[in-house]
Amino acid sequence: MPQQDHLTARLVVDDDFEVAPVNNRLFGSFVEHLGRCVYTGIYEPDHPTADEHGFRKDVIDLVKELGATTIRYPGGNFVSGYRWEDGIGPKQERPRRLDLAWHSTETNEFGLHEMAEWLEATGGNELMEAVNLGTRGLQEALDLLEYANVPGGTELSERRRANGADKPFDIRMWCLGNEMDGPWQLGHKSAEDYGMLAASVAAGMRQIDPDVELVVCGSSAHGMPTFGKWEQTVLEKTYENVNFVSCHAYYQPFFKEDGTRDMASFLASGVDMDGFIKDVAATTKAHLKSAHDVYISFDEWNVWYQGEEPSKTPEGIGNWPVAPRLLEDIYTAADAVVFGDLMITLLKNADRVHAASLAQLVNVIAPIMTEPGGPAWRQTTFYPFSLTAKLAKGGTVLEPKLASGTYETDKYGEVPTINSVAVRGEDGTISVFVVNRSMEAANDFAIKLPEGFALSAVEAQTLHEDDLLAKNTLEDQNRVVLHPNTTITSDADTGTVRVTLPPVSWTAVHVK
Ligand code: AHR
Repeated sequence: MPQQDHLTARLVVDDDFEVAPVNNRLFGSFVEHLGRCVYTGIYEPDHPTADEHGFRKDVIDLVKELGATTIRYPGGNFVSGYRWEDGIGPKQERPRRLDLAWHSTETNEFGLHEMAEWLEATGGNELMEAVNLGTRGLQEALDLLEYANVPGGTELSERRRANGADKPFDIRMWCLGNEMDGPWQLGHKSAEDYGMLAASVAAGMRQIDPDVELVVCGSSAHGMPTFGKWEQTVLEKTYENVNFVSCHAYYQPFFKEDGTRDMASFLASGVDMDGFIKDVAATTKAHLKSAHDVYISFDEWNVWYQGEEPSKTPEGIGNWPVAPRLLEDIYTAADAVVFGDLMITLLKNADRVHAASLAQLVNVIAPIMTEPGGPAWRQTTFYPFSLTAKLAKGGTVLEPKLASGTYETDKYGEVPTINSVAVRGEDGTISVFVVNRSMEAANDFAIKLPEGFALSAVEAQTLHEDDLLAKNTLEDQNRVVLHPNTTITSDADTGTVRVTLPPVSWTAVHVK
């Protein structure tokens, strides 16, 4: 398609109007016992970089560079058939079990203690633990909480101490099951049944530890047939006893009738995520009479080519591989732009979204890839995540006042060409994250800084490739990286910064 003349858009950064402080938990991620996320991902005792616990140090370094905070664990669909006790105690005595969610064998070599130790090694990241409400219920959830959080003096807490963790794990965030609305989920339930169970588990958990922060399952996708009604029913039963309701969303470019992919709609995935958040926020606000507030934990989000080869689970009664290659999507430059747009959308909704988990962290639809015995490297999506985390953590989201053109999509109708958000840092600097969704035209983007802002320096980094399908692979690990955007200019007199955004690009502007 021929390039159109440059489009224009403008963001007015108004320091007087704040959306909300950026909760560091927005930069959470997710480690599930799925494929090679744990085994040969974060844990590989034979790897040349492995530490005394068997953790890959090359991966730990990348996790630190990524800037991930809270880690959701151990699933995902996996948790709905998981017995947490299998993963504690001497490793040689731990049972091998069928993992029905991913048709694999779980060796249980890695469990709760290993996860806590690994989080220490990553710099003290927070654990967000999920309990199994698929095949299990109230008693097992209470047992796990007692094991994890009670200091000592009872059979379970003393067992933890005997297993090497003298101090309690002191886990604050707990997911009450996973995607219980999904018919694929082991132990899937109706909203009524799940709501009743979640309410009793929440109340019971609070009898042990009143200060836990509980996440009740919302819908596993915006497009679920039960969406809306599910949230309403579940929240009616659990509202006073939970702190978060979850949202999950995965995006991919679907095929059009002519066999090509609908990139225009895919590039507007942030529009759907925004609508999802607004819809769920409206449901939580329906409880206005309560003094208590329930926020959103967007605890699974990403681009995922579901149904394609890397996501096909093994089959056969005699075929239950250990840590097979599963969901190992290799992301393109276009995927990273959509991904950056999703991060912008989460930030824009920081008043309602207080936690989020990028699904997942290593190998499985992940920003970090590894080879067993070999290297670890950054996928294209690594870059928008790490730079957003670096610039936005500790900051405050400012109300986005954005004037942008629009374009037409098959899936979402007319959508803005530009999506953008500004964050004021703790040090008073301003970071603007912006995505140009246009496939045809560059965009001359103007940022009007707050009145009186003493502008001294500006810089911009852009992720863009002429080849939208460019990827980072084992053979070419740095094909797609961020580049300084040299088009940036600033005018201190008018308090304006200008930068040209190439078509299908993600940019972070940092103004000091
Ligand atoms: O992240 C992959 C899977 O997607 C999770 O196990 C499940 O919760 C979701 O459907």
